[in-house]
Amino acid sequence: MANLLDGKATAEKIQAELKATIQTLATKAGRPPGLAVLMVGDNPASEVYVRNKEKACTRVGIASFGQHLPTATTQTELAEKIRGLNQNSQVDGILLQLPLPNHLDAIALLHQLDPSKDVDGLHPVNLGHLVRGEPGLRSCTPAGVMRLLADYDIPVEGKDTVVVGASILVGKPMALMLLEAESTVSVAHIKTQNLAKLTREAEILVVAAGYPKLITQDMVKPGAVVIDVGINRITNYEGKSRIVGDVDFSAVEPIAQYITPVPGGIGPMTVAMLLQNTVWSYQQRI
Ligand SMILES: NC(=O)c1ccc[n+]([C@@H]2O[C@H](COP(=O)([O-])OP(=O)(O)OC[C@H]3O[C@@H](n4cnc5c(N)ncnc54)[C@H](OP(=O)(O)O)[C@@H]3O)[C@@H](O)[C@H]2O)c1
Repeated sequence: MANLLDGKATAEKIQAELKATIQTLATKAGRPPGLAVLMVGDNPASEVYVRNKEKACTRVGIASFGQHLPTATTQTELAEKIRGLNQNSQVDGILLQLPLPNHLDAIALLHQLDPSKDVDGLHPVNLGHLVRGEPGLRSCTPAGVMRLLADYDIPVEGKDTVVVGASILVGKPMALMLLEAESTVSVAHIKTQNLAKLTREAEILVVAAGYPKLITQDMVKPGAVVIDVGINRITNYEGKSRIVGDVDFSAVEPIAQYITPVPGGIGPMTVAMLLQNTVWSYQQRI
């Protein structure tokens, strides 16, 4: 049976460390770090994520400047909110909760963020820093994967790593971070011809496709490290819903060396990295 990579426990440890750092710095700086999560509309999944992020902020001592705006908010109004937060000296991090309602252009709005407050690491300036291997705000989910591997002393250097999914939010920055850590990276996407052939080569397999049970036992090399980023809500015949990842956990766990659970794996690590990015931005500012 694989060893579980406990993202929840690791995230709690990181939060405790951040809390101690904030207690020390806030006295000197005269203010705590500040994070603004901007949410538009009533996407139920986003509401849960935003609530979790705000609760985590309270736990570690980060002030929340979040705003929940109605679905009808216009592009100009949202851009105006972002400008206000860019100028607010109490705010160190701004996160635009995605997805936005269809009438809003998320990419154009992400460009309006002050890159030094872009705690989700999605502004082209921060993605550029990542490509060049320079310090900067790193995308939270892939940063959470790297941190979890590091905390479990799992070597990445020289390994064959495979990322399934190539989104700008997870797959692409994940591949760049694995490359930065000197692994040999392959990236699969929807047009990949033989996904199973590729995933079977992976010593470290990171899956972020958004498709339940995409990765079955025969697609995993025995002894691999399997990181499941997927979060999918599925409903059974009785109408009960639960969250699952992209990996068929019960089939893959017996043959993997390490595996992340869903929930309790990369989800909590993503929140911990958001808090860490906010504190990093605060430290640059004070
Ligand atoms: N744990 C966390 O904190 C966290 C954070 C963010 C996201 N997530 C979860 O991670 C998953 C991915 O998120 P995302 O934002 O990256 O989603 P996304 O924007 O939908 O991207 C999914 C990527 O996977 C690729 N893909 C889809 N089906 C595939 C298949 N059968 N074979 C190979 N590639 C396939 C897509 O390819 P094409 O673009 O070519 O179609 C795309 O590149 C979702 O379940 C999401 O909920 C979790």
